[in-house]
Amino acid sequence: MSLNMIKKASVTLAATLVLSASAALAAGGGGPALKTQNWSFNGPTGTFDRAQVQRGYQVYSEVCAGCHSLKYVRFGNLPAIGFSEAEAKAIAAEFEAEDGPDDDGEMFMRPARLSDAMPSPFANDKAARASNNGALPPDLSLIAKARVGGADYVYSLLMGYSDAPEGHEVAEGMNYNAWFPGTQIAMAPPVSDDGVEYADGTAATADQQAKDVSAFLMWAAEPKLEDRHRTGLKTMIFLIILTILFWLVKRRVWKDAH
Ligand code: HEC
Repeated sequence: MSLNMIKKASVTLAATLVLSASAALAAGGGGPALKTQNWSFNGPTGTFDRAQVQRGYQVYSEVCAGCHSLKYVRFGNLPAIGFSEAEAKAIAAEFEAEDGPDDDGEMFMRPARLSDAMPSPFANDKAARASNNGALPPDLSLIAKARVGGADYVYSLLMGYSDAPEGHEVAEGMNYNAWFPGTQIAMAPPVSDDGVEYADGTAATADQQAKDVSAFLMWAAEPKLEDRHRTGLKTMIFLIILTILFWLVKRRVWKDAH
């Protein structure tokens, strides 16, 4: 391959990358602009606000868990957001998990333990659809990473319900939400003012609950975010020191070259 060909190929490759990246961004931006929030976990040094994530768990367990599972989150993960092990055990015991088969070959329900995932309240997908106007409430474990916009998308969706604009037909049992792809969603607005009573006394406005549960779902989807940020920062510091060392060595090596 000649040098010219390599140059041409690399320009084409770069152009393709730029175009596909902007296409991916555009695909996520179908709805109105996201209601972006100033999350504590944003930026290279961001961390989860433990109190917020705990409140978010409270909203999840009292409201969202009525329809959505979190099958990749175990009750035993709760101490990572500041619950004690005893608290996590007590929380788990409020849920039921399927176990078995017993000696008669039957599956049975028992209080959940730390090793159990946060279960779906429905026996199966058909039962879930039957209770939700035909729509399946998705597992929320990874939703904050699976959707463009992450926590901002979840927040915008939760706060995004409104009356349909003039000329928009909304089907029976559906709700208008400009942030949901297609603008019609089977989920009724799940958060409302004072829908929960926060254990830490924070005023439970709908907005506060939407923020808190979005932060919780971000933690659920990326529990190692803080480790990743720490590693990134250490790597940057290491590279800066290495650059300075190389620069000093270079000065020394070239000192006598005139
Ligand atoms: C009464 C049942 C119900 C409750 C309670 C509920 N949801 Fe949903 N949710 C659904 C259904 C059904 C869908 C699927 C909607 C559709 O496909 O039209 C859904 C979809 C979603 C989606 C997916 C949107 C997407 O991009 O696919 C998110 C995120 C979500 N719910 C978050 C929540 C949160 C957070 C809570 C608690 C604050 C909650 N839901 C409470 C039934 C529920």
